Amino acid sequence: MARNLSALIVDPNLDSRLEMVKLLESVGLDSAGEATYGVEATYLAADRQPNIVLLSLEDPPMRGLSTAEALQQQLPDTPLLVYSSSPAPGLMRQAMRAGARDFLEKPLAARELRTAIHSVLAQEEQRQLARWAEHTAQNARGTVLTVAGAKGGTGKSTIAANLAVALRQVTGQEVAIADGDAQFGDVAVMLTLDVKHSVADLARNETEITRETIQPYLVRHDSGVNALTAASEPDDWRALKAEHISGIAQALSQCHEFVVLDTPGTMSEVVAASLNEAAIVLLVSSLDVSSIKDTRTALRILESWALGPDRVRLVVNDITRAAAVTPEDVERATGMEISRLILHDAQVGMSVQTGIPIVQSNPRSRFAREIIGLAESIAGLAEVRVARAPMARIPLLGRRT
Ligand SMILES: Nc1ncnc2c1ncn2[C@@H]1O[C@H](COP(=O)(O)OP(=O)(O)OP(=O)(O)O)[C@@H](O)[C@H]1O
Ligand SMILES: [Mg+2]
Repeated sequence: MARNLSALIVDPNLDSRLEMVKLLESVGLDSAGEATYGVEATYLAADRQPNIVLLSLEDPPMRGLSTAEALQQQLPDTPLLVYSSSPAPGLMRQAMRAGARDFLEKPLAARELRTAIHSVLAQEEQRQLARWAEHTAQNARGTVLTVAGAKGGTGKSTIAANLAVALRQVTGQEVAIADGDAQFGDVAVMLTLDVKHSVADLARNETEITRETIQPYLVRHDSGVNALTAASEPDDWRALKAEHISGIAQALSQCHEFVVLDTPGTMSEVVAASLNEAAIVLLVSSLDVSSIKDTRTALRILESWALGPDRVRLVVNDITRAAAVTPEDVERATGMEISRLILHDAQVGMSVQTGIPIVQSNPRSRFAREIIGLAESIAGLAEVRVARAPMARIPLLGRRT
């Protein structure tokens, strides 16, 4: 059960202090102690950590005011209520300037004190929630998923494009896909998008990549996924550097719950940055000997970059069906468990040709079901992360009135 709220009484006058103790009892608050001005008050405040401080202020007010200021510095989140037998506006102003949240005139009725305490604690709760919300908004980041592979042509872009659409279908949340292959990237082709501003244009034109400056470069796919793609015409792709990819991942993750980054099949600084930004790396390997060998090397590189098994998932995609090796061979060779095995599906080629992701055109196909399953498990992981977000709540004043 939550402990009762407690108040510290700071009052140099013994009779007035005892009166306040009685009044506190009648409104259902515990006493966190009583003190005169000065160090006794600040010592007790630090020791007892009260929910509220009640401080008496009479003429001359100097010692009371300096104690009020010291208490506010020490416990800035603990509301301070001042009571006084003098309603002089000057005194009231000085008290508020010293940090008092309310000024009550003596003699005090229990109802008046209860209402005042309720109100300052409610204000404090609002203040803390607003601060938490602002902090969360500033630090909020969606989940960045980087689809990578040690080799070209293992199905990375097909998986990335379908995964982005599936995440949107499964969660209904904001999803973005960014093509990290400024030269040969074909996310735009896979989603039939009309590219007006490419990812390389963004790198060239914007000195700072933020959630605002990135907006004009995004194209909305009919699924609701926002895409930042490579140009469909020859483009000076070399403008895209590692720092741009980091900026893109960070800016997109501030306004999307999921960000899928597609990468080219060769290691580069840009790929390294994409991997670095990822909460989860989907390392795609096909079922042929050279792909497995290269995947093993890639895993070693990732490990040396401190991208351990907690962030890396091995996805095996049987693009050819003429598999020379088995999934077990892959696990043995890489020393890593296969997280998802995607079987060959002849309908994938058709979907790539038509530019409609297979999770939309044929969601019951083998490939689509695998990708939807992958999206569901990723969405589940993200939910766990959100559920762990801290909640700053302080208890409201006891209901027993
Ligand atoms: N499970 C699958 N079954 C059948 N065909 C597939 C499968 N996965 C991908 N493909 C086909 O493989 C080809 C290569 O896929 P994709 O372009 O996605 O590979 P990539 O890894 O992105 O290549 P690159 O490294 O050149 O960017 C595509 O034509 C796609 O249709
Ligand atoms: Mg590709």
